[in-house]
Amino acid sequence: MKIIEVADYKEMSRVSAQIILEKIKSQEHVTLGLATGGTPLGTYKELVKDHEENGTRYDHVHTYNLDEYVGLASSDPESYHAYMCEHLFHPVHIPLDQTNIPNGAAEELLQECMRYDTLIENIGGVDLQLLGIGQNGHIGFNEPGTPFSSKTHIVDLTPSTLEANAEYFADRCKQPTRALTMGISTILQSKEILLLASGEKKQEALFHLLRGEVTEAVPASALKMHDRVTIIADSQALKLV
Ligand code: GLP
Repeated sequence: MKIIEVADYKEMSRVSAQIILEKIKSQEHVTLGLATGGTPLGTYKELVKDHEENGTRYDHVHTYNLDEYVGLASSDPESYHAYMCEHLFHPVHIPLDQTNIPNGAAEELLQECMRYDTLIENIGGVDLQLLGIGQNGHIGFNEPGTPFSSKTHIVDLTPSTLEANAEYFADRCKQPTRALTMGISTILQSKEILLLASGEKKQEALFHLLRGEVTEAVPASALKMHDRVTIIADSQALKLV
């Protein structure tokens, strides 16, 4: 794993956007795996800024998001679908039919998981997967204990993950407790992976990832089995390492 230590969230966002832009500008067809949460927001802002200033085009970009809450329709303002439209798809003009997010409102959730997995298998894994990391070491919504062999699946979110994401819901009673997420093996199909981490809250997760062993108790440790992973983390997040 390559580790790029940066000063702060701002620099992490700039460096990660640069890596994504290099891919977008150097390939005729690009598939990006995308993440949500607070961590990649700055990266998306940088991509939008670049689009506005330099007119970088996204006609050749296809995207595959990691996860979505169960029970939230794509039109729900608190869905990851709405998040992606607001922060990236609309501002940089990625045609919506080139974007893919698991459908958390599907009637047959198991079938939806299989459909999503097949999509990703058919492209042979995304070219570049962007990841954040949960405070308990989760990637996507793969909570501790998830088998490394897992494909896209339904997950019951742990109390700590619910707590960490509560700020994104105006009414906590309406916060979904289940999600659909790419599995660990789905993520590992990516040709290249970029994991971002910033701030004190990610210290323990990074410590376990970088100093600990490969174990299903720390989902992100599966990334050690992949040979093209870059971690961009700020000094705060790397403090215990
Ligand atoms: C959620 C998302 C993950 C994200 C994690 C960290 O659980 N499903 O993809 O990496 O939160 O979120 P944040 O970046 O807000 O710390």
